[in-house]
Amino acid sequence: MSFKLPFFKTKQKSEKDTPTIEHVPRHVAIIMDGNGRWAKNRGLPRIAGHKEGMDVIKDIAKAASDSGVEILTLYAFSTENWKRPNAEVDFILRLPKEFLHHYLPDLMRHNVKIETIGNLDVLPEHTKEAVAYAKAQTENNDGLLLNFALNYGSRFEIMDAMKRVMQDVDALKLSIDALDESLFSKYLYTDGLTDPDLLIRTSGEQRLSNFLLWQSAYTEFWFTDVLWPDFNEDIFKNALHDYQQRKRRYGGI
Ligand code: IPE
Ligand code: IPE
Ligand code: MG
Repeated sequence: MSFKLPFFKTKQKSEKDTPTIEHVPRHVAIIMDGNGRWAKNRGLPRIAGHKEGMDVIKDIAKAASDSGVEILTLYAFSTENWKRPNAEVDFILRLPKEFLHHYLPDLMRHNVKIETIGNLDVLPEHTKEAVAYAKAQTENNDGLLLNFALNYGSRFEIMDAMKRVMQDVDALKLSIDALDESLFSKYLYTDGLTDPDLLIRTSGEQRLSNFLLWQSAYTEFWFTDVLWPDFNEDIFKNALHDYQQRKRRYGGI
């Protein structure tokens, strides 16, 4: 006859691989960095890294959806990325169309809803059209919210929100006394979304690069040296697992 010792629970490999649903971060944000270095390491042009990185997105979207993550926000193009050579910018801004051409049917099957944050107005027409089509097609899906940060910059977002707050005050639609954190949040691109619980950055850089400054006040950060094109489902699940060990205190004890 054998006795099970109740206080000695050996950790099964599967526990690490499959995070328990109750501690899964609702909103995961990722700074997908390192495409250029990945290509350079292989003697390829930087754009080859962006192309390779695009294919990783659908794997991580699937992993997020399977793990019970509700929102996956991916930093795809920042307001500072316009500083890059025109040819690289042009290539990156063609990727949404290419991504959706390849993966939209798959995303539909997985009930994924596509949204964006960022200033789309100044993007090329072909980028805007691809994004608008994907949003319309996936509008009624209620699975994972796959949220692309496109021409996104936090400072622009906050400043733009501030301008609209002031316009509403001017137009007597808003009184200054009524303005609080929760009302201000409604003027941001992320209106309606919960703040990110976990923020992942690849490629060894440990900075926010103007990503979700307001929203990440209490976000847990997770960094890896892995370059984005080498990122995969196992590494993503490691990040979720580490998140599950964190104690979030929000200033309390
Ligand atoms: C991230 O990879 C993708 C974008 C910023 C669009 P990078 O292109 O920044 O790659 P590195 O950081 O130069 O290696
Ligand atoms: C942040 O990466 C932007 C995206 C991943 C889209 P960058 O490569 O632009 O950031 P920095 O310049 O290293 O801070
Ligand atoms: Mg970079």
